[in-house]
Amino acid sequence: MMLDLFAQADDLQRIDELRAELHRHNYNYYVLNAPEISDQEFDHLMYELQDLEARHPEYKDPNSPTMRVGSDLNKNFTQMTHKYPMLSLANTYSEADVADFYERVRKGLEGEDFEICAELKFDGTSISLTYVDGKLTQAVTRGDGVQGDVVTDNVKTIRSIPLVLPPDKGYPREFEMRGEVLMPWTVFEDLNRARELREEPLFANPRNAASGTLKLQNSAEVASRKLDAYLYYVLGEQLPHDGHYENLMEARKWGFKISEHMRKCRTLQEVMDYINYWDTERKNLPVATDGIVLKVNSARQQQRLGLTAKSPRWAIAYKFQAERACTRLNKVTYQVGRTGAVTPVANLDPVQLAGTIVKRASLHNADIIAGLDLHIGDMVYVEKGGEIIPKIVGVNPDARSQAGEKVHFITHCPECGAELIRYEGEAAHYCPNDVACPPQIKGKIEHFIARKAMNIDGLGPETVDQFYQEGLIHDIADLYTLKASDIMALDRMGEKSAENIVKGIEQSKNVPWPRVLFAIGIRFVGETTAKLLAKAFPSIDDLASATLDDLIKVDEIGEKIAQSILLYFKDERNRTLIERLRAYGVQLKGEERNPEEYTNKLEGLSFVISGVFALHSREEYKELIEKNGGKNVGSISKKTSYILAGENMGPSKLQKANDLHIPIIDENTFLEMIK
Ligand code: IVH
Repeated sequence: MMLDLFAQADDLQRIDELRAELHRHNYNYYVLNAPEISDQEFDHLMYELQDLEARHPEYKDPNSPTMRVGSDLNKNFTQMTHKYPMLSLANTYSEADVADFYERVRKGLEGEDFEICAELKFDGTSISLTYVDGKLTQAVTRGDGVQGDVVTDNVKTIRSIPLVLPPDKGYPREFEMRGEVLMPWTVFEDLNRARELREEPLFANPRNAASGTLKLQNSAEVASRKLDAYLYYVLGEQLPHDGHYENLMEARKWGFKISEHMRKCRTLQEVMDYINYWDTERKNLPVATDGIVLKVNSARQQQRLGLTAKSPRWAIAYKFQAERACTRLNKVTYQVGRTGAVTPVANLDPVQLAGTIVKRASLHNADIIAGLDLHIGDMVYVEKGGEIIPKIVGVNPDARSQAGEKVHFITHCPECGAELIRYEGEAAHYCPNDVACPPQIKGKIEHFIARKAMNIDGLGPETVDQFYQEGLIHDIADLYTLKASDIMALDRMGEKSAENIVKGIEQSKNVPWPRVLFAIGIRFVGETTAKLLAKAFPSIDDLASATLDDLIKVDEIGEKIAQSILLYFKDERNRTLIERLRAYGVQLKGEERNPEEYTNKLEGLSFVISGVFALHSREEYKELIEKNGGKNVGSISKKTSYILAGENMGPSKLQKANDLHIPIIDENTFLEMIK
């Protein structure tokens, strides 16, 4: 009993240590951009903490760094009234409006000197964070400005938002931080790419992606979306300074991510220079911005200027010119993708927009067309904002000279004539004819040969199209029947390239099973899902005979993916396709494990590896530890069984190992242990 109590006290102490350490590493990484440890070491510390917390539920802390991983629990958001209403800003679009604002402020302050704090207007979704005694207690969305949704668990997954502030930094006992939750461009592009592969609707811009993500019910999924946040406003009763800028500089010391691009301006000219600089420079930022916010810096002067019904008189938003043009709609065409999704495309009179000539723009779906009440010949507005593809944002009704035909979304596939369907709750229409609709067939083959799939050199969309037109291929298995002589007979095909293609196809037979599984293109089975499935099901036969239960037992495989897999293997045509791939020698199972390499000699032992080795690399040692049943951990604790040390072990690790009396072994001793 006594012993148990000691062990318990040790665990609790270790939990505290780990929490403090992880908070610090989070801040170094996400706010300062200056990590001190590797991602892997970070993960190990996190696992250790998760493990300890699971064993000590009584020591739960809502602000533990583990809370950033999110939870799988579903929840409905509750509403909360904002302590200070979240006002919006009046928008302006011209320098003249900015000059008017400046003049209004000058008059309002009756000749008092004032400073304007100029900031970037981040284009995400706003959030209000409450901190009490240095701890994040609540995160609420803007909602209608008076009431918002409580999204604390989701916000905790955002690594740049501190959950606990370092002690004694002079922050008020209670205060509120406001800011913008953002999805960086790179994350947004990756997310959309992944959604495209899983055939899910794409987000139009990072703003929608960020606000959609904050409202997800599953915070574990929120965590995977890698949101970021900039904080731009401190509110509270006992703030350290009168100046907004000065308070934010203070908040930076408390651990908040504050933009480096705020400037205090003393003249209208300085304000204009700031606006002009960022109008172009913003394109180099990692996150989307849609304007500049100008705020009177002094809180006392802000009070003096006061509010109107909707927005403060002491601040204004200057919006960058949305890159927009007006042009004529000539016709609407429809594109059918690999998945059968039908996208309407506006064909326009060519128009110059943001440095390129635009002839086509997306119309997204049937609802958007109906909402715009679109007619052929209409003068339409095209915008290229944060979006990747230009889109039609409106119609100029006054310019509708002669009534052109109203645009009605098609009912049948333009490629194969099949009647289109619309799944419940989805905006897109689909062509259901996945076996005979040409773009679907070609799309599946293009997906199969792609670099991340079978990586077949020499083949691209044009060659696939040509082979298909010539009747050489109708599905992915046909690729393996291609002969150099058939290819050579085609237009624009030399002997050398024909041989290269055949060689590339031959080499694809070495592509390992997880990538083949991705390549065959089962709906919703993207690259990551394929890896998970291939690990759980060592061969395609195992996967094909799996039941719904078997499938959803696999981590991260939900009902939607599972159903799609069942459906795929239920289809006789897919089973025949698989048999043909098998006959041609494509890898439909994983490599056999060599049982001799696996032992349980290190079972129950945990190792920390440190220093440089002569006989094997660190990675090889890690693998050896795992293959022999041991566990790799990132940092030394009382629980560590051994330190496997090479040359130049770090002095702090050495000190810690000695303090905790952890045995240090060299590589020869380790190799003896597993011999
Ligand atoms: S200050 C009373 N500063 O723009 C002052 N807002 O209508 C309130 N925004 O939805 C806001 N960047 O989410 C402020 N640097 C910034 C901002 C910013 C983006 C958003 C904010 C709000 C909208 C203003």
